[in-house]
Amino acid sequence: MSALYLYPLWLRTWHWLNAILFLTSLVTGIAMHFSLSWLMPFDLAVPVHNASGVLLTLSWIAFLIGNLIGGNGKHYRLNFRTLPRDLYAQVRYYSYGIFVNEPHPFQVSAEHKLNALQALSYIGVMYMLMPLLIVSGWAFLFSVHLPERVFGVGTVWIIAMLHLLLGWMMLLFLIVHTYIITTGETPMTNLKAMLSGWHK
Ligand code: HEM
Repeated sequence: MSALYLYPLWLRTWHWLNAILFLTSLVTGIAMHFSLSWLMPFDLAVPVHNASGVLLTLSWIAFLIGNLIGGNGKHYRLNFRTLPRDLYAQVRYYSYGIFVNEPHPFQVSAEHKLNALQALSYIGVMYMLMPLLIVSGWAFLFSVHLPERVFGVGTVWIIAMLHLLLGWMMLLFLIVHTYIITTGETPMTNLKAMLSGWHK
């Protein structure tokens, strides 16, 4: 059995810290939004949510820098020529092939560790949703300094709705993400890789 070292220590540290911070933000956000004092009292949820938001921002910046200088960024470059074909193969596999024991359409290699669907969803999450979530969070935190209304609508309301929508979209990503990671060679292959660094 061959093994590839695909997840360097910095990436694994970032990933698990990021997951803890995201889950903390999610739980405290839900506790505040639905006033679930049994989950966490509001007065505690607010500072914890703010702190995890600030740390999540730093963690996101670390991911950008790591991808830029750590070599991992190459896995986020899409090949637009083969993308439609690769995406089709992957979607077909997840919706049909996997249930009839077809072989995985994508071979993991040192040059390409992410299949087209993974690459696309990680790009969407890390380069679109996450920065928007972070900016809307900071705007929420400093909303007293913003104009009261934009086009006749309350600024805080717009920011709150945007932040909420992005939070729900990230939760949706997390649910799909945790399912998809179990679809490797065995259900634990990807999880073991993200823990040890080695993809077997
Ligand atoms: C408990 C929650 C989580 C678990 C169990 C988990 C598990 C994993 C595993 C096993 C992988 C490696 C397989 C692969 O490359 O697809 C992975 C990769 C990844 N995960 Fe997660 N994850 C969690 C939460 C998150 C969250 C909250 C985010 C983002 C907000 C995230 C973003 C990513 C990214 C971007 C990668 C690819 C990293 C790279 O190789 O460049 N994960 N995750």
